[in-house]
Amino acid sequence: MITAIYPGSFDPITNGHLDIIKRASKTFDKIIVIVSMNPDKKGLFNIEERVELIKRVTRDIPNVKVESFSGLLVDFMKERNIKVIIKGLRAVSDFEYEFQMSLMNKKLNPEVETVFMMTAAEYSYLSSSSVKQVAMFKGCIKGLIPDDIISDVTNKIHNK
Ligand code: PNS
Repeated sequence: MITAIYPGSFDPITNGHLDIIKRASKTFDKIIVIVSMNPDKKGLFNIEERVELIKRVTRDIPNVKVESFSGLLVDFMKERNIKVIIKGLRAVSDFEYEFQMSLMNKKLNPEVETVFMMTAAEYSYLSSSSVKQVAMFKGCIKGLIPDDIISDVTNKIHNK
């Protein structure tokens, strides 16, 4: 039985993330989506809200669980005896950052493997930041994030 974690900031989850989660859930026995702090990014949703949004859109996938963690991923993984990290790659521009992070995680725990999944072509341009920017200027974000959470994002951005 192989459990893998899928970590990210998910502020908010996009259809690109959801596509990776669905595909990973067919490849591994269990996926734990970890909402984790990226110290370089300022958040729109707090961690609990992000977890709730992801739970809502993955509720029909039985082998997907959602949690948050505020320390180093390798520490979470050691606690649970998990060896696999899944990351999505959109473009060459993601590679350098992801490569560096996977090597750092390997340095911290040599037993950890990072498995990269290529994002589906139709989502390769998508990022949480661009969704927030489009929503901020009242553009249409349908098709970019799950329908179930569109009103959460627009309400949050426009302080409703
Ligand atoms: O969606 P993101 O912002 O690209 O996700 C980055 C994230 C949250 C996966 C990364 O910042 C992370 O792993 N944070 C937890 C701290 C940690 O373990 N860092 C790895 C060593 S640099």
